[in-house]
Amino acid sequence: ESSTQNKPVRQITEAAPIKIGFAQVGLESGWRLAHTNSVIHAAKEEGIELLYDNALQQQDKQIESIRKFIAMKVDFIVFSPLVKTGWDVVLGEAKQAGIPVILSDREVKVSDDSLWTAYIGSDFVEEGRRAARWLTQEMAGSSEQVSIVELQGTKDSDPAVGRKVGFEEIIQDEPGYRIVQSLQGDFTLENGKQLMLEALGQHGKDIDVVYSHNDDMALGAIQAIEQYGLKPGKDIKIISVDATRAALKALGTGKLNFVVECNPLLGPQLMKAVKDYMAGKELPMKIITSEGVFTQDTAKRALARREY
Ligand code: AHR
Repeated sequence: ESSTQNKPVRQITEAAPIKIGFAQVGLESGWRLAHTNSVIHAAKEEGIELLYDNALQQQDKQIESIRKFIAMKVDFIVFSPLVKTGWDVVLGEAKQAGIPVILSDREVKVSDDSLWTAYIGSDFVEEGRRAARWLTQEMAGSSEQVSIVELQGTKDSDPAVGRKVGFEEIIQDEPGYRIVQSLQGDFTLENGKQLMLEALGQHGKDIDVVYSHNDDMALGAIQAIEQYGLKPGKDIKIISVDATRAALKALGTGKLNFVVECNPLLGPQLMKAVKDYMAGKELPMKIITSEGVFTQDTAKRALARREY
């Protein structure tokens, strides 16, 4: 499937550059800051005008921003949806106004997929599978039950749903693995710490593994485990997703055990898509970023090249 656009949309001039309304979801994590910076810098590089709004993790605010951009008659609306559902009406309004919508990180679940033009981002289900595959290999041969605490990202958000589904898909075939507690968070460090203290209060030393849906919550969990008097990375193994500098450093000091990469540097691909569309080219519906994984052994080299 692809968009049917194939005629140049309009003449782009210095006086009338391409104009994007970017409705960012929030400021919740290191990943998010890197994503925002990547989009802003890539727009600047390409001479594209970017109007930036931040919804501070509130869906109402994000809808308000999208409506504002529609009223301003931007050429594109780019957004990272807080949650998967609840966008049909506002995206219908964008479609009615003839404004294409590009999802930069996080997909939506709407009744009509022609409400959005393209998705540029990660395969979150695969990220969850990668986390679980490492765990089952790491624990292979152990005859004891593996008790896992899961720290989920924002309820009903695409990464939280996908990372849970992918992880469970792999461990369900492994008899000894059990998620003893799965707590809903919001991708922030503070929240990760609170949730981990709650889990430790209930399960204490019985916890073998923490699977955190992002680095910030994992870093919060590390603080909670230390506060509780246990050694993160040793007494409790910790798996995270993102691979920001802070997480790679924690791998280096042995406090984190494994990190699945989620690439926030989506700006250049986004600007390319926008320019292609304006030139009348068809966009693929999904542009999935290629990503790796990091262990304590591979983190150091990666850190030297890490920008965020
Ligand atoms: O949608 C991507 C996720 O959102 C990142 O993993 C997380 O850190 C961010 O808040």
